[in-house]
Amino acid sequence: MKFFLDTANMEEIERINQLGLVDGVTTNPTIIAKEGKDFETVIKEICDLVEGPVSAEVTSLDSEGMIREARVIHQWAENIVVKIPMTEAGLKAVHTIAKEGIKTNVTLIFSAAQGLMAAKAGATYVSPFLGRLDDIASDGIQLVSDLRVIFDNYDFKTEIIAASIRNLGHVEAAALAGSDIATIPGTLFEKLWSHPLTTNGIAQFEADWQAYQAKNQ
Ligand code: G3P
Repeated sequence: MKFFLDTANMEEIERINQLGLVDGVTTNPTIIAKEGKDFETVIKEICDLVEGPVSAEVTSLDSEGMIREARVIHQWAENIVVKIPMTEAGLKAVHTIAKEGIKTNVTLIFSAAQGLMAAKAGATYVSPFLGRLDDIASDGIQLVSDLRVIFDNYDFKTEIIAASIRNLGHVEAAALAGSDIATIPGTLFEKLWSHPLTTNGIAQFEADWQAYQAKNQ
């Protein structure tokens, strides 16, 4: 399973990237706005730092505007993926730019039918939003499982990015459901490797080892 960071915060990306476990980065207009910096500058900085794919989202709502933006964003770096919202205009745009070799991440996927349409249009990635489905008492993980079955049934090469991940349970469930990728906020990423029983276990081993050494000196 690949791990992407769902952030545009450079300090966070630099720190976590040192672990060697970051396979890519995803952003959206909300995430970019939080940093208060120029969009192109931030995306280029991230692309320089991270080897894997970096998603940058268009803001046009019509297909001509999306295509125009996608062609510009695509030039910013080799590892750019253009994020396109799941609308009729978005599907048209993906169909056009996929043929030009532009990688796309179709975002705001909330149903299996939307994911299927995006894959058929030629999306490189689809992003089902688990947390936002769970927020409305729907089942985000079921959507990832359904997309896995559908893509496997028809041998779509489109990769599933489990997005809108809010907790460790989402990461584990997305892995069990066969998601290709989980895109994880930095604050959550840093909790993935810790467990209170591990911390307690280390403290106990250390205390016992010191007592043993003191006795045998
Ligand atoms: O990048 C898209 C997605 O991960 C956003 O998550 O928490 O705003 O629903 P959230």
